[in-house]
Amino acid sequence: MTSSISTQTAAVPMAVVWRDGQLWLLDQTRLPFDEHVFHCDTLESVFEAIRALKVRGAPAIGIAAAYGMLVDLDPVSDLPALLTQRADYLMSARPTAVNLAWAVQRMLAIMAVAMHDGLCGDELFARLEKEAIAIHEEDKAACRAIGEAGAPLVAEFPKVLTHCNAGSLAVSELGTALAPIYVAAAQGVSVHVYVDETRPLLQGARLTAFELGRAGVNRTLITDSMAAHVMAQGDVQMVLVGTDRVAANGDVANKIGTLGLAILCQYYGIPFYVACPVSTIDLATPTGKGIEIEQRHADEVRQFAGIDLAEADTPVFNPAFDVTPAALVTGIITDHGIARAPFGPALAAIVTASITPRAFESTTAQSVEIRGGA
Ligand code: MRU
Repeated sequence: MTSSISTQTAAVPMAVVWRDGQLWLLDQTRLPFDEHVFHCDTLESVFEAIRALKVRGAPAIGIAAAYGMLVDLDPVSDLPALLTQRADYLMSARPTAVNLAWAVQRMLAIMAVAMHDGLCGDELFARLEKEAIAIHEEDKAACRAIGEAGAPLVAEFPKVLTHCNAGSLAVSELGTALAPIYVAAAQGVSVHVYVDETRPLLQGARLTAFELGRAGVNRTLITDSMAAHVMAQGDVQMVLVGTDRVAANGDVANKIGTLGLAILCQYYGIPFYVACPVSTIDLATPTGKGIEIEQRHADEVRQFAGIDLAEADTPVFNPAFDVTPAALVTGIITDHGIARAPFGPALAAIVTASITPRAFESTTAQSVEIRGGA
């Protein structure tokens, strides 16, 4: 199954590439018309790429930041202080996606272990590089597992609507929300995806429509305001989106506009699913109220592609994300099973399973379907 999936997404360029100790990023602000890959050779260039959404999507930001900790790093300097500074700096680029903090904190943790083991200089750098590569590789495996866990749902509900971009471009490869779609399509399911354009930055129109097209998946682009209409017509059987952070109670932060879709789903009786790797579950944040929502520049709303849409002094509100309450979520598809309400114990069991698989097998909560389960 894996080979047919990778064939299907092979035409989509990689968001993050680490080659010979150098970081290369696909500039997603130029898609779909220009597949420009650029070399990130300073810490500042990594920060700026994350802030400007050249690399975006929660897992891809985390992977880029893990490598970013190593870019242009002098391994003989005072590494603990330097890497802690770097971690703080990179985390300040975007506050909502928990994968960013998760990845850089994992790098700091491995540094502490390596130093305790007496590593220094090039050996220490090699250990850190190995960890960043592990973060990248684990994300690939997580995406495949999400795809396999969610594919039966897509087979049952093949008319899907998605928002923003939670595909290959947002991760290592394959995607989170798009992974079950790619896997189901590879299994012969005839899938159709309505793609919300996703104002203001059009990740749906520029990225999701692009990558589904490259993968040969049927898709129809709509403006965000058309979602209710296509649902009313009976053309949507499931909404499937990614997330930047899942709170311990199952509240879900995702691209602005997601909350409206979840409310519509409740009205029309449409299942509302979220897909993410375990690294996006933040048990340290009890509810969505504790998730910091990134506010972005007013010109992203006042302008489009440099063209003024409103007078330059028009006051603007531009939150990048909203929070969907757990009560509106049908299920959260992860690489360790699908969580369903009550989400508190289900998410805790999934996180435990990701750390100690054996313990999980004997204490499975009823609200969690084991990976590959129905
Ligand atoms: O602002 P973006 O483009 O980084 O927002 C991305 C999203 O909202 C995605 O749905 C989320 O990060 C999940 S990506 C697998």
